[in-house]
Amino acid sequence: MQKRYVQTLYLSPGFGDYKKTDNEDEKMTIKIALFNHKGGVSKTTTTFNIGWMLAEQGNKVILVDADPQCNLTGLILGYKYVELEDFYINNHENNLRDGLAPAFESMPKLIEAVDCVEVEGREGLLLLPGHIRLAEYDVTLGIAQELTGSIQTLKNLPGSFNYLLDKTADKYEADFILIDMSPSLSSINQNLLMISNYFLVPTSPDYYSVMAIDSLTTILKKWNAWSKEAQKMNLLKEADYPFPNITPKFLGTLIQKYRLRAGEPSKGFQHWVDEINNTVARRLVPELQSLKMMLSEENYKNNSITEDHCLAMIPDFNTLIATSQETQMPVFSLTDEQIKHSGTVLEKSLENVDEFHRIFNELADKINRLIEYDSSN
Ligand SMILES: Nc1ncnc2c1ncn2[C@@H]1O[C@H](COP(=O)(O)OP(=O)(O)OP(=O)(O)O)[C@@H](O)[C@H]1O
Ligand SMILES: [Mg+2]
Repeated sequence: MQKRYVQTLYLSPGFGDYKKTDNEDEKMTIKIALFNHKGGVSKTTTTFNIGWMLAEQGNKVILVDADPQCNLTGLILGYKYVELEDFYINNHENNLRDGLAPAFESMPKLIEAVDCVEVEGREGLLLLPGHIRLAEYDVTLGIAQELTGSIQTLKNLPGSFNYLLDKTADKYEADFILIDMSPSLSSINQNLLMISNYFLVPTSPDYYSVMAIDSLTTILKKWNAWSKEAQKMNLLKEADYPFPNITPKFLGTLIQKYRLRAGEPSKGFQHWVDEINNTVARRLVPELQSLKMMLSEENYKNNSITEDHCLAMIPDFNTLIATSQETQMPVFSLTDEQIKHSGTVLEKSLENVDEFHRIFNELADKINRLIEYDSSN
């Protein structure tokens, strides 16, 4: 696991004790990637929601928008900037692409920490904004990651994302970095997943998510093989931004955006929930076990996680999603003033807000416990 060192004793209320070495106090910033190459499965929404909840529980959290669609950046900056472009004109250095530019544009300076945006209304939550032109770096990174040809000139690229994220984590003494990824098998996604300590797979109950989990099994095997090769290469070890020795571990899946009937997914959705759970248990997990990309069985068991490795079932937010986007608040933090309705409609909405709060609170607790146990064993 990636470790970093701070001069002063720093304990996170939401994270367990840190092991000390000699005179240094050691603190880890945990990087969690939210990945599924299938689009629209709630990666961005879930990054925002889990990040918000972890911050609410007392952690310092940086959300990283690594998707050139910049949905997370748009969601957080919302209507404060009528056009996202205004943000980039006024804050032209404070985003993922410009943070990486020293490596990708061969500038005569080192990568520095990015100045993150403080997320309004949630102390402890920060955004490392994305950039609509981040995808331009994907081709060069792809060549660098093929580990062939003129690698000497490209040796600084594979470790550059990790270096930038660590620098930024240090600057803010972050407990967690959550990475929102694009729906693709890009070289950037390959890099980000393999430099993360843990990953979550958001899904929605439909045929395409089942297909995506099936193909993830093959993809993760390839990416892991690449990462292990990269870790062995002296050229990448000696680079300005060394490629890290990390094996990302699978925390679990999230299943969301289904309709409820008597408190359970309706019949049509339940079929796809079962298919997802089966595919994870029969295909994905055995492969990840052989790649050592799983937590210990004991760890999952202690947290009542069964063979489907589903960490949370999150039903459709229904009309709350519109209010959530309008107010740039997660559905579980909406107030009666924000919901605007009155009478029984308001009552029902507030009940739903409470229920979503309970679901995300439990999910964040579970993530914390899995990581804490993993770090201490
Ligand atoms: N639980 C939910 N209930 C209802 N709507 C949801 C839920 N989660 C997400 N959504 C909505 O579904 C749409 C897709 O969600 P989101 O953008 O988070 O997915 P994504 O996986 O990040 O998409 P992409 O692959 O394009 O990046 C959005 O309009 C979002 O508001
Ligand atoms: Mg997204």
